[in-house]
Amino acid sequence: MDGQVLTVFLAISSIILPSNSFAKKRDIDIYSVHVDCQVSARFAHTVITSRMVNRANESREALFEVELPKTAFITNYSMTIDGVVYPGTIKEKKEAQQQYDKAVSQGQSASLVKATGRKMENFEVSVNIAAASKVEFELIYEELLTRRLRKYELLFKVKPIQLVKHFQIEVHIFEPQGINFVDTQSTFMTNELFEAITKSVNETKAHVLFKPTIDQQRKSPDGEESLLDGDFSISYDVKRNDTSTSDLQIVNGYFVHYFVPPNLPKLPKNVVFVIDKSGSMSGRKMEQTREALIKILSDINPDDHFNFVIFNSEIYTWKESLFPATEENVNDAKGYVQEIDARGATDINEALLTAVKMLTNANEDGKLSERSVSMIILLTDGQPTSGVTKLMTIQQNIQRANEERYSLYCLGFGFDVDYKFLEKMALENGGLARRIYEDSDSALQLQGFYQEVANPTLMKIRLQYPENTVSELTKNNFGQFFDGSEIVVAGHIINDKLDIFTAEIKAQTHASDLVLQVEANVTKKEDTFKHEQYIFGNFIERLWAYKTIFQLLQKLVSAKGEETTSLQNQTLQLSLKYGFVTPLTSMVVTKPDDQEKILLANKPVEGEKENFPGSALILHRHAKQKSSSQKIKLSRLVDTPNRILSITQEQNYVYKTISPTIISPTPTYDSDYPNFILQLPNHNELFCVDVKGESQASVNLVSDPDTGIWVNGKRGKESENFESYEIAYMNPEVNLSVATNSIMVHYQTFSHNLSWSKTGSVSPEGLNISIDEKSYLTITGDKKVAITVSLIKSAKCFLQLSIIDGHHFSDNLKGLIGQLFSGTQFELSQYPDLSAVLNVQGQKLSVNRGLRRNYNQALIPGAQISCWSVSLQEKQ
Ligand SMILES: *[C@@H]1O[C@H](CO)[C@@H](O)[C@H](O)[C@H]1NC(C)=O
Ligand SMILES: *[C@@H]1O[C@H](CO)[C@@H](O)[C@H](O)[C@H]1NC(C)=O
Ligand SMILES: *[C@@H]1O[C@H](CO)[C@@H](O)[C@H](O)[C@H]1NC(C)=O
Ligand SMILES: *[C@@H]1O[C@H](CO)[C@@H](O)[C@H](O)[C@H]1NC(C)=O
Ligand SMILES: *[C@@H]1O[C@H](CO)[C@@H](O)[C@H](O)[C@H]1NC(C)=O
Ligand SMILES: *[C@@H]1O[C@H](CO)[C@@H](O)[C@H](O)[C@H]1NC(C)=O
Ligand SMILES: *[C@@H]1O[C@H](CO)[C@@H](O)[C@H](O)[C@H]1NC(C)=O
Ligand SMILES: *[C@@H]1O[C@H](CO)[C@@H](O)[C@H](O)[C@H]1NC(C)=O
Repeated sequence: MDGQVLTVFLAISSIILPSNSFAKKRDIDIYSVHVDCQVSARFAHTVITSRMVNRANESREALFEVELPKTAFITNYSMTIDGVVYPGTIKEKKEAQQQYDKAVSQGQSASLVKATGRKMENFEVSVNIAAASKVEFELIYEELLTRRLRKYELLFKVKPIQLVKHFQIEVHIFEPQGINFVDTQSTFMTNELFEAITKSVNETKAHVLFKPTIDQQRKSPDGEESLLDGDFSISYDVKRNDTSTSDLQIVNGYFVHYFVPPNLPKLPKNVVFVIDKSGSMSGRKMEQTREALIKILSDINPDDHFNFVIFNSEIYTWKESLFPATEENVNDAKGYVQEIDARGATDINEALLTAVKMLTNANEDGKLSERSVSMIILLTDGQPTSGVTKLMTIQQNIQRANEERYSLYCLGFGFDVDYKFLEKMALENGGLARRIYEDSDSALQLQGFYQEVANPTLMKIRLQYPENTVSELTKNNFGQFFDGSEIVVAGHIINDKLDIFTAEIKAQTHASDLVLQVEANVTKKEDTFKHEQYIFGNFIERLWAYKTIFQLLQKLVSAKGEETTSLQNQTLQLSLKYGFVTPLTSMVVTKPDDQEKILLANKPVEGEKENFPGSALILHRHAKQKSSSQKIKLSRLVDTPNRILSITQEQNYVYKTISPTIISPTPTYDSDYPNFILQLPNHNELFCVDVKGESQASVNLVSDPDTGIWVNGKRGKESENFESYEIAYMNPEVNLSVATNSIMVHYQTFSHNLSWSKTGSVSPEGLNISIDEKSYLTITGDKKVAITVSLIKSAKCFLQLSIIDGHHFSDNLKGLIGQLFSGTQFELSQYPDLSAVLNVQGQKLSVNRGLRRNYNQALIPGAQISCWSVSLQEKQ
């Protein structure tokens, strides 16, 4: 049974285009899936429709699940059931939330429809449909394609699970500037499927159709399994030459200006790589970083200057100043990079200040060319834990020291970083932040990012339009232009009598100043799109709104006080006016189940915690009948890189929970790390326990005279966290005194010291006490309770104690945390994945499930763990 549930989950978690895997095979028949995408001058409008019919003789749940790019905004969603349309409406988030809350308080279940992945977001709706009924789902989204590494890319994730009679992906591209090439790529292509692709390209238009028949979709000639499972993408670029560097398009009084300069020599660049080598980087992450840096060094331009700042709580540099990228220096640097090993804490503040100072000194010493681009590339996988650790202070320090001179790019490795902190710091310093996903291709992601910024060809770029002709311009000043990308400016033409629209571009190249003039005949331009029937009339205005909203959202990252309110209002008004689901709006969908239910679709934000249950959860009940009991057993908990899923099952009920974006921790580090992590016997659930109280005296945590184990703990001065433990095993007797600076083991007349910073072990009296390379102290033994203690060096230093296997405790167990192991009853609430009541020896405690930071990843994998947080009060 368990196995079956897991299979179901795996199918669902990676899904993509409409599917229905919960209902019995073929009860719900997906008979069509259409993806229809139109791109006009880089602006893409995609409509996904799926039609399903319930072939069973009773009602069934139909599930529609789609992945869309993170950079897209949903603009419409609707479902049509037996001819009745249930449209979605876009509302201010607050208002949508109120409507949702009201529905919840009336006891109706409501659910959210989104979560995030690496490049994509997940949209998911399920609806109960009667026997022999039909449903049609439709989702529309829009995005402006960004040119990266010399191409634009449209990505579709495909996984219909069953064979689909009418399946097609159809893309029309219209680029008035001319099309250079169009490529299709797919991760699931076979010769048969390849024949289902037709592609035609002429001067300005391209058409791609992928329409596999049912037989072409089959994995084996008479099987029911589908080959369609993976990515289908289309990439293209437009034509450019030295005389056509600008593309100006005008529709309905709005213009967009695309600019890519002619082929120019590269500007030299001055790069300081600031690399985190704290303990958490050890192992694969450090290996991948070394691998990426060595490749980057191999590609570095000979005119460039560079240096490395490698940091943990100390700062190390390759050279005292920036050095030119001669062959000899590059080889020397490769040797240096090869030797970087990871240990210790994280002092981001000092590392960045060192990098800024290094660039400033090199400039003052006249080492760097005046026409060169200076940048700092920070790679970190964690929070600042050493030196200055207050995030705001670090941001202020860097901004003050840098004075906008050097672009700061912050690469956050994994999910243990505070992404918002990195993003804000990067945006305040003219750069940007990226997440590097912990995966087999992390080194490639790092190299990929470097390639994007490797070749600057222009600096101090300004695109200007005559006064009194335009308003509401998007950003038109740029620090540098990187080869392979594109500059985009959009705006409103206010002079409606204008014949000729002109633009002027000013910039600096490696040797001289560049001035370019462009002009466009407004009537002629307006005509370009008039005869293109499939292109919706006001797309440049929508493109302008899309770009403006993105820029407002970026400004919001570092806005303060009144500015925030005003920016939020502008963003909201634009989102509502143009019908975009942005972080300030929600799509409200009312669905016609037994009772009316409300669903909300919200835009996930990278690094942001969604803090109401509605958006943190998708709660489905896949059931034949109504639940008669709220008590259920949790059967499985699975962490994926970007969301936590749990599958819950009892008889014919399956509950699935997904919490979306992982949750960058709030700056109160110590409370994010639980002091104790426990797993109760016969439960797969984890408990994160914090003990409240102020006493400095020793607190009895575990006392089990029958099996002979005691654990006492002591807090540090002015700390809620425990900083030392006395652990005593009896029969035979072994005692441990564990503190943040020492570990002593006593047995018989012997004593032995272990050190947090050195691997080592002792095995007295049938116990095995060892320290591994990650500073985890584990105590194990045959028929003994196993205990792990980890030294956490966060803003404060403390000791986290974990008991994962409590099987060997007796029933006579006492002590503050020990009591949780003896006969604790667990009653789940109406939201079984969020809250519950613990009955601990007659005392009721309400507990919530959430994500907490995990330190001991050897014991429990994942930088975050999903656990029930239990707060215990120390008895006086
Ligand atoms: C539905 O069909 C199943 C078998 O296909 C049958 O056992 C069942 O009695 C039918 N139920 C109804 C309500 O007709
Ligand atoms: C959304 O789709 C529904 C159903 O097709 C349609 O009635 C409605 O007008 C659309 N809304 C917008 C804003 O396009
Ligand atoms: C270019 O291709 C489009 C469809 O892809 C077609 O409608 C159009 O007529 C073609 N134009 C020329 C000049 O061949
Ligand atoms: C702009 O183009 C239109 C149509 O092609 C033409 O009639 C008009 O003379 C042009 N205007 C100028 C100023 O060249
Ligand atoms: C928000 O902006 C709209 C129009 O731009 C304006 O009418 C409204 O008063 C503003 N609201 C707030 C709270 O500033
Ligand atoms: C171990 O600890 C217990 C309880 O604190 C104490 O009674 C005993 O003497 C200790 N034994 C050794 C060998 O230190
Ligand atoms: C162990 O460390 C303690 C204090 O750190 C010290 O007093 C003691 O002598 C050490 N014992 C041994 C055997 O090294
Ligand atoms: C003690 O535990 C460590 C780590 O789990 C292990 O490497 C070692 O082999 C164990 N030693 C004994 C004697 O069991």
